[in-house]
Amino acid sequence: MQLSTKHLLGIRDLHPKDVQLILETAKQFKEVLQRPIKKVPSLRDVTIVNLFYENSTRTRISFELAEKRLSADTINFSSSGSSVSKGETLLDTVNNILSMKVDMVVMRHSATGAPHFLSQHIPAAIVNAGDGINEHPTQALLDALSITEKLGELKGKKVAIIGDIMHSRVALSNIYLLTKMGAEVTVAGPPTLIPKYLTDSFGVHVTYNVKEALDWCDVANVLRIQLERQNQVLFSSLREYNRAYGITKSLLSSLSKEIIIMHPGPINRGVELDSDVADSGQSIILDQVENGVAVRMAVLYLLSGRREANA
Ligand code: CP
Repeated sequence: MQLSTKHLLGIRDLHPKDVQLILETAKQFKEVLQRPIKKVPSLRDVTIVNLFYENSTRTRISFELAEKRLSADTINFSSSGSSVSKGETLLDTVNNILSMKVDMVVMRHSATGAPHFLSQHIPAAIVNAGDGINEHPTQALLDALSITEKLGELKGKKVAIIGDIMHSRVALSNIYLLTKMGAEVTVAGPPTLIPKYLTDSFGVHVTYNVKEALDWCDVANVLRIQLERQNQVLFSSLREYNRAYGITKSLLSSLSKEIIIMHPGPINRGVELDSDVADSGQSIILDQVENGVAVRMAVLYLLSGRREANA
């Protein structure tokens, strides 16, 4: 089986069969990661550059670890401390790196569409590790793997995505993936943080009442308030936000069932999510991070065109 795409630029471009193949391959790699020797030779002699123009902890580290577990050679580039500060363009930077015989590019950029632009100008396979407020496809894939581990297939599952939907690439990738795979999606948060284009015709239900979303869902994926992307006042204060839209222990205790709590990280503790929820048995936040390595191994392996996942 092969992916229908040369790059992973977004979930929007994927066929449900691609999603299924990535998740099945990630499960195989997760088994590899439980072994005493967690390394396979699948991407030996493949060179991958991790090109980060924006800050990251989880995504950058888990891509690097995934590459090492696959025996790839890796180079890490971050724009700070590079010749980007001297005015070098994205395309010049990448072409210079590729001239050193690099096969694949993992890229995070604050500009929406940066990896799509690059894909039209370079021969290497590109994995989008987050572009502006557009997509973060590997986050949605690891979220999907984490849900299936707890609840089985995605079809028919009810997922609430709660918080700053407007500025979240995680939200958009999750919406594309979950609706493609037959899950039901509700987005919830303040009206100022939910884009107007998200309607029933987009395949999601919208509510401004977080309790209503929690009462309905099996899983709540709680998103960070992205203050760094907000250039105007979109809610009164962080304390008010927590009171009206934050996920608290007392709110969860008022529900008739125990739901699963997810968050892509980094968490604003005490704002969108209280610590006693983030650190509770209902939370699978660290499972999400663990699954990130297997999912990224699967994506890199499948895009490389190599065979024998467990070699
Ligand atoms: N979830 C996520 O993308 O986290 P980082 O920004 O730390 O990579």
